[in-house]
Amino acid sequence: MDSRTALYGVIGNPIRHSLSPKIHNAAFQKLSINAAYLAFQVDKEFLGLAFEAMRALQIKGLNITLPHKEDAINFVDEVPTDLDRCIGAINTVVNRDGRLLGYNTDVPGFLGALREELQFNPETKSILVLGAGGAARGVVFALAHAGADKIYIFNRTIERAHGLQGYLKTHFPETEVKILHSPEHAKDEKIHLLVNATSCGMRAEDPAAFDLQFLKKEAAVYDLVYSPTETLLLKKAREQGRRHANGLGMLAGQAAISFGLWTGQKEGVRQIMLEALRQ
Ligand code: ATR
Repeated sequence: MDSRTALYGVIGNPIRHSLSPKIHNAAFQKLSINAAYLAFQVDKEFLGLAFEAMRALQIKGLNITLPHKEDAINFVDEVPTDLDRCIGAINTVVNRDGRLLGYNTDVPGFLGALREELQFNPETKSILVLGAGGAARGVVFALAHAGADKIYIFNRTIERAHGLQGYLKTHFPETEVKILHSPEHAKDEKIHLLVNATSCGMRAEDPAAFDLQFLKKEAAVYDLVYSPTETLLLKKAREQGRRHANGLGMLAGQAAISFGLWTGQKEGVRQIMLEALRQ
């Protein structure tokens, strides 16, 4: 590092568990880019100041993580893509000569992970999404955007599932969105993919996020959780011989797309990041 080192980072709270510094710094090093990536713990009340600091210190790029992905939209100058505006959450900010541009790379990162890890294309497919929080919102928007025919939502708190259904219907009226009231109702449906977008599975004592016996045997399973690398849900999927993958692919995918927006470097970045994560 020297007086020309460009600064990047991630802001969130909590942040000390974040793997983003590890994977971005691995890519900077491997590609010989003079830059550093740090993690900043930022409270909600200081979010605006963090964006002012980004301008003042000419921080080139930031990732935004929980709980700031929605509020962050209020502090950028522009959200260039329609899809990111309708999702209403950003995870990446590009500082283009003092003008702050907001993007959501979780969406293409998720779709890329389905493609790379499961060889799965959501077009014309029926997909069951578990959860109705911020992560589930990104997932259902990505699936609808990619042309899924039918999206089922199952959530512990049914009112939140209805909220997400309504929100999606306004933006994608052509996509059929159904609420699943109980896991066994999945038995009557032809579901091609299950996506766990809840935090169930992150704690050692968590049960499997869904009972896979209610899904057809061809249905694949994608779990956004990456720590532990094999949740109980994924263990069952593996034992049943289903195609399955954890959230590491999405983590690397969204990071590589952010990296591309900041540096213009795209080739091989996802792979460098995946290797850093697997170490
Ligand atoms: P995020 O932005 O990461 O999605 P969130 O908005 O807090 O975080 O949402 C967490 C999601 O995980 C919710 O769908 C939550 O279900 P509720 O809406 O019923 O709270 C779900 N979730 C968390 N722990 C869970 C558990 N042990 N079993 C089932 N669902 C769980």
